[in-house]
Amino acid sequence: MTASSQRDRLEALARHSVAVIQDNQAPSGAYIASPNFAVYRYSWLRDGAFIADAMSRAGQAASAEAFFTWCSRILVARASRIDSLIARHRSGQPIAEDEFLHARYTVDGEEVPDEWWNFQLDGYGTWVWALGAHLRRTPGCTVDPYRDGVVLSTRYVIEFWAEPSYDWWEEYVGHRHTSTLAPLYAGLQEAAQWASLPTGLRRQAGEAAGEIRRTVLSQGRQNGHLVKWLGGDAVDASLIACGVPFGLVSSSDPLMTATVRAVESSLAHGGVHRYLEDTYYGGGEWLLLSALLGWHYASVGRLDAARAQLAWILEHATQDGDLPEQVADHLLAPGARQKWIDRWGPVATPLLWSHAMFLTLALELGELTPPITPAR
Ligand code: BGC
Repeated sequence: MTASSQRDRLEALARHSVAVIQDNQAPSGAYIASPNFAVYRYSWLRDGAFIADAMSRAGQAASAEAFFTWCSRILVARASRIDSLIARHRSGQPIAEDEFLHARYTVDGEEVPDEWWNFQLDGYGTWVWALGAHLRRTPGCTVDPYRDGVVLSTRYVIEFWAEPSYDWWEEYVGHRHTSTLAPLYAGLQEAAQWASLPTGLRRQAGEAAGEIRRTVLSQGRQNGHLVKWLGGDAVDASLIACGVPFGLVSSSDPLMTATVRAVESSLAHGGVHRYLEDTYYGGGEWLLLSALLGWHYASVGRLDAARAQLAWILEHATQDGDLPEQVADHLLAPGARQKWIDRWGPVATPLLWSHAMFLTLALELGELTPPITPAR
């Protein structure tokens, strides 16, 4: 393919990505994870925060801000519940898994009644991190409209960061997951520096962030690299995010270099698997993780390697330009694929988080210039 047709494809996919994201953002500000996959027709704080971050980078500030408003409302609507959870925790009362704040909500900000692996903490840090990044790139924009939500999210994270929860993949409850701790650290670091937040809370946020970092560095590494959960030895591609974007460890630190090497040697070959034991839809390669690896490469100056990740993602867009959650070129557990198709239908496509991460990588590499206007 010529360089100019490659560029045309990249620009077309970027414009389509912005359109897919806009079309699947509700008036409330919530982004649905995927429109064509019944159990993903809800909004996750984790997916949404990465999507808002990409929209902010793409020059679509209003979209990102609508999402932050939605997050803030979710928290404010649960203020008394958060107070009571914190009070019960401090008095040593047990809290059942399903009493904690949820990972996904309806676009109107309600809990989804179905059974789900809801006790995930990471989103409560990720959205605050994304908000901080947005404020830094958007002159004149302040934390004030989101302040009440940020305060509640920060109090919740300070109280519960050390609790074992489900991970990014909504699995392995009962462990303290390194890639859950990283966005909690990043969100607390943001909160610690916002002058309009109460001084005491800012101080506690900074202290908790420091404690998270020390905990990960002392219990979350083995054989020179970060591990999936504290005290374990497995690798997970989401660990890359401990470097970029969450900055728990600098992406050029030898610990991150070794972590990325461990991911490369067991999970990456263009596409990137989540972790070796993955059986979801046969354990395919996830586009958003390919972009995350590319983002890491870009951050350490491995630009050719980063561009190769971007090219791999482009190759895996459907005819219509949609980006799936995962592809089946190389499966870790081929025998497990059909049972998921029978249960929930074909792989979620388009997945907004995949589109977001593609945009982020392309923008980080300077392959696109914002604002990116949606294809219509
Ligand atoms: C993934 C989660 C994601 C959700 C919605 C799940 O299968 O494991 O990380 O938040 O889908 O995209």
